[in-house]
Amino acid sequence: MLLYIDACINRDTSRTERLAQAFLTKHQETSPCKIRTVILEEEPLSPLNATILAKREDFIAKGDFSDKYFRLAHLFVQADELLIAAPYWDLSFPSAIKLFLEQICINGLTFRYNEKGIPEGLTAIKRLTYITTSGGYIGPYNFGYDYVKGLFQNLLGVSDTRFISAEGLDIYGNTPDDILQNALDAL
Ligand SMILES: Cc1cc2nc3c(=O)[nH]c(=O)nc-3n(C[C@H](O)[C@H](O)[C@H](O)COP(=O)(O)O)c2cc1C
Repeated sequence: MLLYIDACINRDTSRTERLAQAFLTKHQETSPCKIRTVILEEEPLSPLNATILAKREDFIAKGDFSDKYFRLAHLFVQADELLIAAPYWDLSFPSAIKLFLEQICINGLTFRYNEKGIPEGLTAIKRLTYITTSGGYIGPYNFGYDYVKGLFQNLLGVSDTRFISAEGLDIYGNTPDDILQNALDAL
């Protein structure tokens, strides 16, 4: 199963969403599989606070992951492949991505620490694809993807990560349709 995490806002007009849908179409042509989509805008995501954290720590200590808090983590653990689509915002991604990551980084469910204290992934995910579009050029400031990549490689045991982007879409004089088309053609 490919789990598609859709962090696009204004999804009807989102260029990131368009690129992600084209990726999924191509993916289905070459390696068809079941796709589950999670639209983060529609999820009841909220940041961890003292109450939720204490409750969550209690569940983790007991190894009891039956609470609805762990719904996304259970879905995540079942995936073979992950696609994240997020527009480039303030040099990274919309905050919903961080809230999602907080929900799926669960010690004992999606990763664990081995006897040497080194984290090991517990998911079946073999590859992460991260898709974004940006108004300017990302260059060395790819903090969104770099952070997600670091997390997946170091905590969640997913070493195969790739980055796909269409950049410079809001720069005066650029032709966003052509830039996007080039990115679609390169998929
Ligand atoms: C809140 C917000 C923050 C943004 N921050 C940046 C930024 O830091 N750098 C940049 O190049 N573009 C930035 N942009 C422009 C978007 O990256 C660009 O328009 C992108 O294509 C939006 O994706 P979408 O069409 O999928 O919504 C920002 C746009 C918004 C709305």
